[in-house]
Amino acid sequence: MRTQVGIVGAGPAGLTLARLLEVAGIESVVLEARDREYCEHRVRAGVLEQGTVDLLREAGVGERMEREGIVHGGIHLQFDGERHHVPMHELTGRNIVIYGQTEVVKDLIAARIESGLPLLFEVGDVRVDPDTARIEFVHDAEQQVLECDVIAGCDGFHGVCRPSIPADVLETFEREYAFGWLGILAQVAPSMDELVYAHNTRGFALLSLRSPELSRYYVQVRHDEDIAAWPDERIWEELHARTELDDWQLEEGPILEKGVTGMRSFVAQPMQYKKLYLAGDAAHIVPPTGAKGLNLAISDVRILAERLIEGSGLDGYSDACLRRVWRAEHFSYWMTTMLHKLEDGDAFDEQLQLSQLRYVTSSQSAKTSLAENYVGLTTL
Ligand code: APR
Ligand code: PHB
Repeated sequence: MRTQVGIVGAGPAGLTLARLLEVAGIESVVLEARDREYCEHRVRAGVLEQGTVDLLREAGVGERMEREGIVHGGIHLQFDGERHHVPMHELTGRNIVIYGQTEVVKDLIAARIESGLPLLFEVGDVRVDPDTARIEFVHDAEQQVLECDVIAGCDGFHGVCRPSIPADVLETFEREYAFGWLGILAQVAPSMDELVYAHNTRGFALLSLRSPELSRYYVQVRHDEDIAAWPDERIWEELHARTELDDWQLEEGPILEKGVTGMRSFVAQPMQYKKLYLAGDAAHIVPPTGAKGLNLAISDVRILAERLIEGSGLDGYSDACLRRVWRAEHFSYWMTTMLHKLEDGDAFDEQLQLSQLRYVTSSQSAKTSLAENYVGLTTL
């Protein structure tokens, strides 16, 4: 088999890249380790920046998102028993759209299949060679070879593409956090109009949503917390305790899904080596507090697609991505450490967090800075 761009991984990065190339008449083959069902049902984040929304729409895969996505013009920061609104649209002219990553992936897979273009699920034993852009893999119990002009490594944090770059070429930066999020999907109308990020002495909580009937809520737990220790009643009790206000209460509903995810910050650079280009989680991870993971993945493939389509400038791909990546790394780290109960934190740390929260919710310039970062208006 031969193609122009061999894409490893059918997450948002790989699938969006495939779509952008298709629109420009460039051939690609997408190879995915898991089955379609698995890819379409992984519950992930759900905040799309305006730039992400525009790109999906322009690529012709935004129809359902336009109909079902929920536009928000702000977020709430809650601390010290009070909820403060950050009016992002008023401050930056930009909105965010609530639409699950899972839904984005479903739309992209459907579009790829509709176009009749190659997307192979359940491939095994994938080996990539950055020198030759040759990919070996097993599909339907048969050994296959895919010869490409370039390879796009969109295979997530645990993929095979990044490890195919020699260790002495790749510089990595990493921070692991002692805490993680226990997330639930509940069948109940969201109790709040916009997202609530809550700082609390018991730990962080986040109130988000997926639709007018589905709420997505999170509580901070230890990164290796056993979900079995969290029966539904305990989760609700903790959500209530961390988010309640004198005149406001969270509505409960049946929990449809729950799970714990750890958190890390990670960057590998350069994001390219010979004929291999990394994009999305394969190259970088952010903790979810800034809602940047998916948006960064889309931003990478936008840059990669533009350079592949123009047929020039691939050398500058990594540098072009990394400026935005590092901005998002800082913002996500900052939001995370401002809002979570820190593992070895003491009363001094907590006072610093509260002071910072008071500052970002009262100073016009600090509030604007947070809003610009949150909506992705940081074109450095
Ligand atoms: N061969 C083929 N596919 C692979 C391999 C492999 N060896 N290893 C992993 N994959 C697949 C995974 O099964 C997954 O479907 O690559 C895909 C990577 O997708 P994501 O992990 O979703 O990564 P990405 O597309 O970069 O999207 C980043 O996902 O994790 C969230 O918060 C993150 O929102 C961000 C987004
Ligand atoms: C989500 O809805 O899953 C979500 C929202 C905001 C975040 C992280 C996750 O910062």
